[in-house]
Formats: sequence, structure tokens, C-alpha cells
Amino acid sequence: MSYAAVKFENYIQISLQLLRRFNNQLKFDIYVRRTDSDYTKLFKKGDSIDWERVALYEAKGIKYFFVTKDEYQIYSLFVERLGEQLLESRQQLTVEESFVVLKELSQFTIHEMTVNFNIDERAVENVSNVVEGCIKELGKDPKSLINVVKLLANQPYILKHSMMVSMFSVLLAKASGMESEMNLRIVGMGGFLHDVGVSQLTFDPEDEKFLSAEQRKEMWRHPELGLQLLDNLKGVRTEVTQIILQHHEQPNGTGYPNGLRGPEIYHPAKIVAIADAFCAMISQRSFREALTVGEALSRLKELSGKFDKKLVDIFVKLMTPQKS
Ligand SMILES: [Fe+2]
Ligand SMILES: [Fe+2]
Repeated sequence: MSYAAVKFENYIQISLQLLRRFNNQLKFDIYVRRTDSDYTKLFKKGDSIDWERVALYEAKGIKYFFVTKDEYQIYSLFVERLGEQLLESRQQLTVEESFVVLKELSQFTIHEMTVNFNIDERAVENVSNVVEGCIKELGKDPKSLINVVKLLANQPYILKHSMMVSMFSVLLAKASGMESEMNLRIVGMGGFLHDVGVSQLTFDPEDEKFLSAEQRKEMWRHPELGLQLLDNLKGVRTEVTQIILQHHEQPNGTGYPNGLRGPEIYHPAKIVAIADAFCAMISQRSFREALTVGEALSRLKELSGKFDKKLVDIFVKLMTPQKS
């Protein structure tokens, strides 16, 4: 069963993989599914997981475990913290664990998208399949996968931001008529890796309320730094690296690093630029409060010249609830 398929029921599928590393008390109940509508509580809040019992279930072929929709948020925060602990520690992250970190993050982002943004369920399901494909593709070279997760996770804001940008980029690409699975995957991957160069800066932009002129100059280098990093990783297509290099170019020529103009900018990079700006606007940052979705959409429209106008119109329409 795919991740997307379980998200609209009352129970959401989870992974126990990361929990194996830690013996914490649970802050949520865990269920197993007997039939499509019958879920039985396996562990309750306050318990630690009994791994022998889990093994018995696994031996019976039960691979999936669940939490209720109501407790999903608690589970996500818990797993996020475990993921951070794991990434900060010197323990080697296994390929399987890297997958879990990314998949859980994508599942959580999808959940947030349906709950917070009123996005059509089928559209979100499509997006989740594309993004899952991206994660698998990245995992073809296990070293690349682990490295990318580690680089992005260096700065707490970036990993979540990357996943969100990836999803909104695919959503916009689809809405603008892009159908080829390969192209969608390129957009998704570009969205996911667009800010990987930020990990190479000498400062964390999230720690700074204001950037000095020097820091701003350094910040402008993150697309090129990202490109250099990915040159060393296998399995990342040139199309993806072009997105990374060009995601801050603007059709009116005022972007960076090369001040490209409208038609010179790679189309998928224009898509990612809009998703990137939108996701940044609706997130709370160290230097300002988050905008509401409506405010962010108005802001995108006001910033004409900085983004592709046609794509902004499609995005605004996509994100504006239709009156039925
Ligand atoms: Fe960026
Ligand atoms: Fe970004």
C-alpha cells in the first residue's frame, strides 16, 4: 500500500524504523490493522515498544503500523525529534533510515497540505507519488541519499522547506500542464535539492535577523555552491542541477547568479522559484512572522516581473478555494 492511499482514513500508516534506535516512552497509541475497517491497539501511550511482540507480528506478514489521525501530529513531532537526534549524533545513518526520514517527512508534508491548504486530494496523491519516485531515484546511489539528507538536515529549516518546495513545485508543474513522469520527477527533485548549497555557507541564515552586505554576497552564491556539491553526487541529472543554479533568477533580469531574463530561464526553474517564494512566505522565520496563504498569494501577484506571470496566475488559481 502506498503512503498516499492511507492518508484520508482515520488511521495513518507509520514506520517503526526510527523508533527502533530509541527506547522512549510512547506519546501516542500504535495500532495494527486486522481488516480494512478493523484496527487493534498494539501499544498504548506511556508504553515502550516491545520489539519481540513487533517481531511476532512481522513474522505473520504484518508490516504496517498505524496511529490515529488525531495523534498523527504528535507522532510526527516525535519522529522529527528522533530524526534530528539521529542526524546530530555521530551514529551512522543507514540507507533505510534515510529513506524513513524522507518518507515520513513527505507524508507529514502531504498531511499538512490537505489539512492547511484545501488542496484537492487527488492532486496531492499524484504529487506524493512523484515525490516518492524522486526519493527512490535518489536512493539508487545510497551514498548520495545519505549525503543529501545529512546536508539538508544540517539546518533544521532547510529539510522541511525542501520537501515542501518539492511538493508545491510538482503541484504547480501538473497544474500548468506538465504530464511526463520524467519531467515531473525532475521538477520534484529540483525543488527538493534547490537549497542544498545553503549547507555550505559559513553562517546559518536562520540565525541572523539581518544579513550583512558580506553575508548577503555569500548567500547569493548558494545556487552555485549547490551545483558544485551535486557534481560530486551520482544520479542527479543535469536538468536538476540547472534548476538549482537558476531558482533565484527572475524574468525581469534582477535575479542571481547570472541575471538571466525571461526566456533564458529554464522553465522548471521558474516553477520552483514560485513554490520556493510561496513556501518561504508562509513559514515563520527568525526575521519575520509567517504570512497567511492569502497574503502570500497577493504578495506573489504584486511582485510582477520577479516571477513568470502565467505560472503565478495558475498557482494563485490552484491555491484559491473554488466556490461550489
Ligand atoms: Fe534558494
Ligand atoms: Fe528555498
